[in-house]
Amino acid sequence: MLRIGPIQLNTNLLLAPIAGYCDLAFRMVCREWGGVGLACTDLLSPQGLLRGTATSLDLAKTNDYDKPVGMQLYGSDPEIMAQGARWAVEHGATVVDINMGCPVDKVTKKDGGSKLLTDLSRAVAIAKRVREELDRCPLSAEEWAHRLGDAQRPGAAHACGGHEHACGEGKAARVLGSGPVPLTCKMRLCWHTSDFETGNACSPHLARMLADVGVAAVTVHGRTTEDKFQGSVRLAGIAAVVDAVGGAIPVIGNGDVREPEDAANMILETGCEGVMIGRGALSTPWIFRDTWSYLMTGRKPAPPSEAEMLATIRRFFSLMLEQRDERYAMFQIRRRISWFAKRLQRQLDNGKMESVKPFKEAIRLADGPNAVLDALARFEAGELRGGIEPAAEHSGAEPI
Ligand SMILES: Cc1cc2nc3c(=O)[nH]c(=O)nc-3n(C[C@H](O)[C@H](O)[C@H](O)COP(=O)(O)O)c2cc1C
Repeated sequence: MLRIGPIQLNTNLLLAPIAGYCDLAFRMVCREWGGVGLACTDLLSPQGLLRGTATSLDLAKTNDYDKPVGMQLYGSDPEIMAQGARWAVEHGATVVDINMGCPVDKVTKKDGGSKLLTDLSRAVAIAKRVREELDRCPLSAEEWAHRLGDAQRPGAAHACGGHEHACGEGKAARVLGSGPVPLTCKMRLCWHTSDFETGNACSPHLARMLADVGVAAVTVHGRTTEDKFQGSVRLAGIAAVVDAVGGAIPVIGNGDVREPEDAANMILETGCEGVMIGRGALSTPWIFRDTWSYLMTGRKPAPPSEAEMLATIRRFFSLMLEQRDERYAMFQIRRRISWFAKRLQRQLDNGKMESVKPFKEAIRLADGPNAVLDALARFEAGELRGGIEPAAEHSGAEPI
């Protein structure tokens, strides 16, 4: 079982940060399906948190059900990152994570994210300083119980329907002893693809140095910064990091896991101890339940019925309305409906997939929550379907 510092996770599957998508509502939906060992906030600006800007505070929102939770910080100044880490601990983080993988200009131009892969001494200095700060704000045993999710276990909402499978739900993560919150780092293989191709990726060396300064686990997205989201995940790059750390800390593999078999293959090919799933969860929030069952028993639970999938969309939408406001909930449901609808397509007798485009259009054009609920009800009644779905092209960074 995956252990991050003092924390024994309940499964070895993690929900990835996906800026603008893996918010509290979505994390709750995934957790309700089961199988999520740890979920993480999207990347947070420590300056924003410390200044208390509304956007940062919204992104950092968590609750008792959203546990255990990682809070991910980005930046390049060790002192500001350390103060951001303290803020995260004071506001509910079970784990603090440092972003060393973001390829987006807005982040790398300020020397954060994957730019740190070009300045390893800075990357290590940040981790060292953050680790020091975390050591200065240890949690009490009572607080640890809370951060691990004990507080919400009895009677927690659970969507998996009690099918015969191992979804990991019902047990809290465990902490082995008490003390400070663990620190993790999430990285790519290196900046330049040519470095990877010539055997000079920095990630193995960086992971070793991070372990030496007290980082409890590293997540490796098996692409270079130059790859952005192109091509396939490079499993050999993740395996090189696993070899380099030699069991000193766990390595969590990440990239292109869309089906339970992909996770099993990643573990087999790389030796990683955990698997982080991002885009696969956007279309399939029950992927953690399915994958955990597959890893534990070799069997996948029966897929959710159409009614259960629609209930998941409704649940997400109502959580969004509850936790944010109508404008934001409408923005989110419109932009995510393609992801959610991906699994709603039915196979026709001729083997082609029936299009759900009319349904997606109805949601995108909805002028308010009632119109969204109406579109969901009409779809459930068999309407808003028709035609043939164009070939899926979900390999890119953005949902279509
Ligand atoms: C739109 C988008 C936003 C992302 N935002 C973050 C982020 O905030 N922090 C982070 O560490 N990774 C971020 N990622 C990277 C993902 O966490 C993950 O490493 C990547 O998508 C590969 O995993 P997947 O194939 O399972 O999605 C983002 C990816 C996408 C597509």
